[in-house]
Amino acid sequence: MKLRIINGPNLNMLGVREPEIYGRQSYADLEEYIARAGAALHIEVACFQSNHEGELVTLVQQARGAADGIILNAAAYTHTSIALLDALKAVALPAVEVHLSDVNQREEFRRISYPAMACKTVIAGHGFAGYKMAMEYLVELLATKR
Ligand code: DQA
Repeated sequence: MKLRIINGPNLNMLGVREPEIYGRQSYADLEEYIARAGAALHIEVACFQSNHEGELVTLVQQARGAADGIILNAAAYTHTSIALLDALKAVALPAVEVHLSDVNQREEFRRISYPAMACKTVIAGHGFAGYKMAMEYLVELLATKR
């Protein structure tokens, strides 16, 4: 089983950006966490990050044929990107949206998510563990689908 994990803008600044919200661990730490969680679940995980909306769309499109499922933290593009919603619909792979912070307890504008409309579920407010929860969710879903 292969999962593609796609992270959006400013997540490369983890550890530096608003540590009171996003914690003190870096993006490299997140990649390491994801690799370890994937290994523990005996699945292949490929992790990507981009600050550009179009690149994120391409990364979603390229998941088709390369992965069985998608985990997406589109960061700020979550709240604006119909293009990412359409890309998820186009590839029609099971997808889970993840946020490190609890977007529902923050500013009003963070409550809107376009990609979530094409996702099986949204996991928010659990920090790095949210990615592991999303992996477990997709492993379970894909196992029962087979
Ligand atoms: C985020 C939440 C978004 O609202 C924000 O723009 C981010 C990170 C999160 O992981 O908590 O950049 O997606």
